[in-house]
Amino acid sequence: VNKVIYDTDIGVDDAMALLMLVFSPKVDLVGITTVFGNIPVEIATRNALYVKDYFNIAAPVAEGAGTPLHLASKAAPVHVHGANGLGDIPLPDVIHAKPHELPAHRFIIETVRANPHEISIVAVGRMTNLALALREDPEIASLVKEVIIMGGAFGYHGHSGNVTPVAEANIIGDPHAADEMFAAAWPIVVLGLDVTQECVMTTAYMADIRDRGGKGGQFLWDVTRFYEDFYRKAVGIDGVFGHDSSAVAYLLDPTLYEVRHGPIRVVTEGIAIGQTIQMPNTRRFPAAAEAFAGRPEATVCIEVDAPRFLTLFAD
Ligand code: BDR
Ligand code: CA
Repeated sequence: VNKVIYDTDIGVDDAMALLMLVFSPKVDLVGITTVFGNIPVEIATRNALYVKDYFNIAAPVAEGAGTPLHLASKAAPVHVHGANGLGDIPLPDVIHAKPHELPAHRFIIETVRANPHEISIVAVGRMTNLALALREDPEIASLVKEVIIMGGAFGYHGHSGNVTPVAEANIIGDPHAADEMFAAAWPIVVLGLDVTQECVMTTAYMADIRDRGGKGGQFLWDVTRFYEDFYRKAVGIDGVFGHDSSAVAYLLDPTLYEVRHGPIRVVTEGIAIGQTIQMPNTRRFPAAAEAFAGRPEATVCIEVDAPRFLTLFAD
């Protein structure tokens, strides 16, 4: 069983991934930490508390960063996840669950220190909370079991950015935080658009989940209606990408993925801001190697068995 902290800007695909964690017998969810991104952080926290209430989730919810480390804060446009972040499904006025007293980054530090080498952090929003935790207590890098993130785009399968031609949302939303996170010496696995956009959850697939999945299935159907509409109109696909669920899929079954190892840097200014660059450990680019010196090897997923991903998610 994996002890997991789930760090999320809980919008639609984040909620999908959260249910995957909650319903997996292989996961002991020890905390949900929130961050700005798909929606402002207060709404992310409200959504996490709502889902906690609705599915009786024991894990506490700790509220995290509301702004990036250096940039002016920019939330995703409301036409992607809806104004309430959950596809504009009606939400109750009163939510019973209350947030944890610690801010997210302190919650992460304390939980990792209390469970050395046991915590997997699954991070599917801006990396701001992780960067703040590292700044305050750099030693946690050697105390976590692994960090699995959804973010970035490395150019495989022609998938580059989804916010600019080269940048993915979770990285461009706080490129400095992401770069600090890639500089830390913790075991890190990255699932970028290269693999997440290979996994399309079609309307028929979601309808099957609705019909077979009880309360969870109905919830997933309801929250994805708005998101699916966005994908149909703006991206031109019949269905939604399995972005954040991909990070959970890796946690549950890494054999779904083919990977490449090498250090990563994030572009933090200029036209290519938010781009993620992995240096392959081949000797092919000696002139660029110095810029990556001292960075740990990250594991980047470059290939996914999409049918098996879809079966895992539905199960
Ligand atoms: C990522 O950005 C967010 O909108 C999604 O929740 C996902 O984490 C995809 O680029
Ligand atoms: Ca997300």
